[in-house]
Amino acid sequence: MDFAIETINLTKKYGSKAGCTDVCLRVPRGQIFGFLGPNGAGKSTLVKMLVGLLYPTSGQAKLLGYPLNNIKIKKKLGFLPENFRYHDWLTCHQLLEFHSKLYGINGPERNKRISAVLETVGLAGKEHQKIRTFSKGMQQRAGLACALLPDPELIFLDEPTSALDPLGRLEVRRILLQLKARGTTVFLNSHLLSEVEMVCDTVAFIKDGRIIRQDSLEHIQSSEIKMELTIGKINDTVKQALSNIALSSYIEGDIVTAFVNSEDDIPRLAEAVINNGAQLYEMTRKRSSLEETFIELTGGVDN
Ligand SMILES: Nc1ncnc2c1ncn2[C@@H]1O[C@H](COP(=O)(O)OP(=O)(O)OP(=O)(O)O)[C@@H](O)[C@H]1O
Ligand SMILES: [Mg+2]
Repeated sequence: MDFAIETINLTKKYGSKAGCTDVCLRVPRGQIFGFLGPNGAGKSTLVKMLVGLLYPTSGQAKLLGYPLNNIKIKKKLGFLPENFRYHDWLTCHQLLEFHSKLYGINGPERNKRISAVLETVGLAGKEHQKIRTFSKGMQQRAGLACALLPDPELIFLDEPTSALDPLGRLEVRRILLQLKARGTTVFLNSHLLSEVEMVCDTVAFIKDGRIIRQDSLEHIQSSEIKMELTIGKINDTVKQALSNIALSSYIEGDIVTAFVNSEDDIPRLAEAVINNGAQLYEMTRKRSSLEETFIELTGGVDN
């Protein structure tokens, strides 16, 4: 398979503090790749190393088949940093001109690209307003416009929708799918798991600087079976018996949610309830959401 991003043991230390440790990732070309992890996990650190804003402490990486910091490749990269804040005394058009120059987009091509990206992000007609008069959402769109200027082959978006309202988020999802349709690889850092679930092909989870899982979204969603049991007269023996069978489980009132990894465990769950003096009112198979996988992997729930 052809990879847009390949990293081997990529590591960044901030003094003695770990930013990323031994990160090995492979991002297939043309996919939307979701990079997920709790606050401080190392998502931005990885992206900053890949776009050349931070030097790795050790390890290697290739972007579009070339080692990091290749100038030819940099012209094919788009990047929207987190907490986007550009020169707010400029008009949006001036900002885009400035970034076009940085990318080496000159001559008649420059205005053509600027008009195209303004149209894509929905800021056409607003380009002569100063960035400081823009709302947070408009500023984020202006940042996205900068990232789209080079018509990138690979684009890194670090929390691209954090300031956007639901309609704005929908538009960004539409833009991401358009980019994918044109063959662009999208690397998306996001906390918004439902959003990632709607657009990503592959996801990776990072925790404390280490990758804890990388898989296709389809595989992640189907690899565990989620069961919901409504139980009467639940007691400690039942709870213990269920947690012996399940990979993980949690209880809310009289409803137990249990994750198992085999079909054979489903009747065992029922037996664990019935044989230990409780009553089973309902048992339903549910689709596991990305949010649940995230919580399970990052250890955020009490059993
Ligand atoms: N410039 C820095 N100097 C020292 N430590 C840093 C620096 N930047 C990040 N870190 C630390 O590195 C770790 C990873 O931070 P990073 O910003 O990459 O996380 P993140 O996953 O992007 O988090 P968030 O979801 O909050 O954006 C954290 O412990 C953070 O405190
Ligand atoms: Mg971050």
